[in-house]
Amino acid sequence: MGVVASAPAKIILFGEHFVVYGEPAIVLAIDKRAYATVDFNEDKCLHVKSVNLNLKGYFKDGIFKAEQGDAKEARSRFEPVRLAVGKVLAKNADNVGLNVEINSTVPVAAGLGSSAAVVAAVTAAVGALLKVTMSKEDVFSIALEAEKTVHGTPSGVDPAIATFGGSILFQTDTGFKPLEVKSEIPLVIGDTGVERFTRIQVEKVRGITDNYPQIIEPLRKAAREIVLRAIDALRESDLNTLGDLMNINQALLYGLGVSDESLEWLINAARKAGALGAKLTGAGGGGCMIALAKDDKLPAVQEAIMRAGGRPFIARKTDEGVKIERT
Ligand code: MEV
Repeated sequence: MGVVASAPAKIILFGEHFVVYGEPAIVLAIDKRAYATVDFNEDKCLHVKSVNLNLKGYFKDGIFKAEQGDAKEARSRFEPVRLAVGKVLAKNADNVGLNVEINSTVPVAAGLGSSAAVVAAVTAAVGALLKVTMSKEDVFSIALEAEKTVHGTPSGVDPAIATFGGSILFQTDTGFKPLEVKSEIPLVIGDTGVERFTRIQVEKVRGITDNYPQIIEPLRKAAREIVLRAIDALRESDLNTLGDLMNINQALLYGLGVSDESLEWLINAARKAGALGAKLTGAGGGGCMIALAKDDKLPAVQEAIMRAGGRPFIARKTDEGVKIERT
């Protein structure tokens, strides 16, 4: 039967990319989750299977052997899992073989933190199976280490929200603080269907920041101010201000070069249909956008995103971070 754990996906409401440079970001965990089922096996290898991606393979003495799907893709997708499992095993002296099966309702490579959710779920599940005592902080730091193999300089925002859930204010030097978000934030997520890689977008921003430091600095300051104002707007459920701030934040991200045609289409369609604000979420370059709309405008915004070629869905925020579903 095995142990099952799950962890949530996320949306970044404000502050992606700037968060890598020490600025604050506002992140919400959403009701889409990654599930990991783990069990012992006898051959002492780490077997990993992703049901959604149709990938399967195993690591024997650190060497990967693919059994299903593209070998290169399987190795790179499973590498963070191998690293996380290795860290949990290191807390427990025995060298055991494991089967890890991943099932996810989170669109992959879409800016919703699927890789961090998978790693947090796997880490918690393996810990529970091996009866290793692990706090959420332990899960977070292992997930963060694993995230470094996915893109070199993560801020830590994805593993933090996947582990702790809820609504958080995140900053690399001060860590995360739960945020007061009184009411539902009516959001439509639009998936462009364009797969993108966080590492590439983060490197792009690194290039532009290195080449134009004096120009990027004021953008960074503006991003910080947006987050500070958004904290108040969230507390007061001031949707109009939140919408304005999302639009300004999108302009900054466009300036960094991480928006693309697929995102701009959906963002414009959502605004025309009455969204109060719309922006990309996560790393950009494809992936997902989010639109904020009053309840009566949500269906029109959803429809407009679909007509513009996107896959819209409504996401609700969730307080549940990583959790054991079954032991
Ligand atoms: C990715 O979800 C968010 C980025 O800001 C990268 C990071 O914070 O590690 C683009």
